[in-house]
Amino acid sequence: MDRDTTSEVTAFVTGATGYTGRSVVALLRRRGVTTLAHIRPESTRAIEDTRDFEALGARIISCPWNAAELSAVMDAERPQVVFCLIGTTRARARKDNVKGDIYDTIDYGLSSMLLHAAAMCQSQPKFIYLSCTGIGTSEPRNSYLRARYKIERELKKSGLSWVSARPSFITGNREESRPLESLGARFMNSAVSVASAFGAKKWASTYRSQTGLELARALVAAALSDDYHNRVIESDELQRLHRLDD
Ligand SMILES: NC(=O)c1ccc[n+]([C@@H]2O[C@H](COP(=O)([O-])OP(=O)(O)OC[C@H]3O[C@@H](n4cnc5c(N)ncnc54)[C@H](OP(=O)(O)O)[C@@H]3O)[C@@H](O)[C@H]2O)c1
Repeated sequence: MDRDTTSEVTAFVTGATGYTGRSVVALLRRRGVTTLAHIRPESTRAIEDTRDFEALGARIISCPWNAAELSAVMDAERPQVVFCLIGTTRARARKDNVKGDIYDTIDYGLSSMLLHAAAMCQSQPKFIYLSCTGIGTSEPRNSYLRARYKIERELKKSGLSWVSARPSFITGNREESRPLESLGARFMNSAVSVASAFGAKKWASTYRSQTGLELARALVAAALSDDYHNRVIESDELQRLHRLDD
């Protein structure tokens, strides 16, 4: 699946309405990939996002998140690539009325549902998962990290070709205000500058933040390249990959 054959590729993008997802949809369309942008029925930005995605030439898929509906979409569309770019936040989970362990219910539960639907699909799509830095070899106690750890474990057993991207902070001009995340990214970027100055280049490149567009460039490049197969891409490599794609 290399650049000259991308017009034959169909990609199904979940989390298309997110900060990273929107850029993924735009970049795929720029590459001529047939792009199915998923917008959940409850999405608060459904009208604007539908208009924007259709203007880019993407097709909207608006099925609810349940196993039967996702499988039906997979069976009908037979994508070659599936992007899983979803994740909740405390504020969003409150609006969605999600109770209990929100990361287990949404970030793990829905991603796992999508992975199973993809694994059952005849086209056996490559699965591109947006994880995060800090996933190790043992099950984390923190529920946000644990959700990503569990999906990465399932990816390895899925039988599909997969990529798990582990960025540090995702920064830039998102529409939604996230003061704690911005503060964390600013603190981390300052620490990165100091670490770079003192020669800790590897540490610095692991924790440097990326914008949604930069991350999307790396994800699309990995999705469309045969060189990326059954592997984790850590933050430093995501940064090299997005620069290659400039
Ligand atoms: N933010 C960071 O600094 C950071 C760092 C490292 C890794 N990550 C990973 O990257 C992912 C994407 O980040 P982002 O900043 O691009 O995300 P984002 O802008 O918050 O978008 C999240 C996406 O998930 C969907 N979503 C949220 N709750 C949902 C629910 N209950 N049911 C179905 N879909 C739901 C949203 O749909 P609606 O628009 O319909 O709500 C949206 O499409 C994160 O979730 C995380 O796994 C993030």
